[in-house]
Amino acid sequence: MAEQRLLFVCLGNICRSPAAEGVFLHLIAREGLEDRFVVDSAGTGGWHVGNPADRRMRAAAERRGIHLPSRARQIELADFSAFDRILTMDDDNLRNVRSLARELGDRPGLARIEPMTSHCRRLSASEVPDPYYGGEQGFEQVLDLLEDACAGLLESLLREQR
Ligand code: 4NP
Repeated sequence: MAEQRLLFVCLGNICRSPAAEGVFLHLIAREGLEDRFVVDSAGTGGWHVGNPADRRMRAAAERRGIHLPSRARQIELADFSAFDRILTMDDDNLRNVRSLARELGDRPGLARIEPMTSHCRRLSASEVPDPYYGGEQGFEQVLDLLEDACAGLLESLLREQR
C-alpha cells in the first residue's frame, strides 16, 4: 500500500506545526502504523530555519509524553509535489500556502491543502491559534486542538486507505 505523505504548516515552524507533526507521529507509533505515513512540517516564514521547536512547546508536549523532533524549515514549491496533503494551522497560513500553490498552476498530482481544524471531532475551532506571544495556556490549547485533529485526520486517512 502506498504511504501517505503529510506536511503540517504554520508561520514559524517552531510551535504549532512541529507539535502537529509530533502528535501525529506519536499516534501512528502507538498504532504501529509508522510505515504507512511520511510526516513533516514547515513554516511559511523563514526566521527560525534550523531551530528546534520552541522550548515552551516542547515542554508542554513532553508533559503529555510527546516528543517533538523537528528542526524548522520554510515551505518550498517542491513540497506541493512531495506531499499528498498540506494541513495549515490558521487562515493566514492557508491563504499563504494557497497563494504559493497558484505559482504552480493547475498541474495534476499536487498536494491537497486543508485547514487542520477541519479534522477536529470533539472540539470546535476554525484555527489553531498562534501561541508564540501568549502564556502557557496557549500551548496547552494548541495541543488539545492538535490531539483532537490528528486523531480525526488519522481516522479519515485510514478509511481512505481501506
Ligand atoms: P508558529 O508560532 O507559527 O506556531 O511556529 C510562531 C513562531 C514564531 C513567530 C510567530 C509565530 N515569530 O514571529 O517569530
